[in-house]
Amino acid sequence: MNTYIAAAVAEMDKVSVSRFEHPGSWAMDPTSCRFLAAFTRALGARRVLEFGSGFSTLMMAREIAAQEDNFLLSLDDSAKYTALAKEAFETSECPAKVEFRTSDLRPRFYGPRLLLGYDLPKGLLEAMGPFDLALIDAPHDDYGRESVFYDAFAAVAPGGYLVLDDANREGMEKEYVEVWQAAYGDAIDPILLEGIGNGLWVIEKLDDCAPRYSRRGLVKTALKTARNFSRYLSRQEE
Ligand SMILES: C[S@@+](CC[C@H](N)C(=O)[O-])C[C@H]1O[C@@H](n2cnc3c(N)ncnc32)[C@H](O)[C@@H]1O
Repeated sequence: MNTYIAAAVAEMDKVSVSRFEHPGSWAMDPTSCRFLAAFTRALGARRVLEFGSGFSTLMMAREIAAQEDNFLLSLDDSAKYTALAKEAFETSECPAKVEFRTSDLRPRFYGPRLLLGYDLPKGLLEAMGPFDLALIDAPHDDYGRESVFYDAFAAVAPGGYLVLDDANREGMEKEYVEVWQAAYGDAIDPILLEGIGNGLWVIEKLDDCAPRYSRRGLVKTALKTARNFSRYLSRQEE
């Protein structure tokens, strides 16, 4: 087994997740939070990128806080939840350097694939990296997380890791990993931890490489993106 994963699994039960701090079902499952914290520690991660601000931000920030030049960039599509996550982090008095940013979601082409993606300035994440670890736990609902890996991959250092939550969802996370494997081939090594929380994919980035975007399910994917963008816009109007 991967040594960092083995170390995290061996140590995760020692990580405390306070019932008073954990905010509830919308946040990462407490067991997944324990693994995430232990994995961040096992990696000795210093720079972390996160999609989906909230309780996980605090779990990772506490682990990097003792490292010199630590930095966590946390992105979310909701200004309301970014503000709540920032407030919770500041209240915790964790000394890590954390930057919260809000970015809208927009339909974007990744090669031939029309996906809902964060509306980030081109090259921003690469400029703020390289990161040792990226957590993908957003966008929420079924807006789709396929695009997030394409955005994050180039900003993660070779030898770094990307962790995807909700790995056990059929037709969603399980499918995304198949198209990522088609795009990145031997440059990534995904490992599924089915029994932790709602499942976690732990994906090692072995090498830099340009994606060869899959043509699988192009029409279905584009239609889903159009439907999800319309849902996203209506939710913003509420
Ligand atoms: C799956 S949640 C996880 C957020 C974070 N990674 C965590 O573990 O706490 C993903 C999304 O839920 C949204 N969210 C945050 N707080 C929320 C709340 N109190 N109720 C509903 N959704 C929330 C945010 O916009 C975030 O991107």
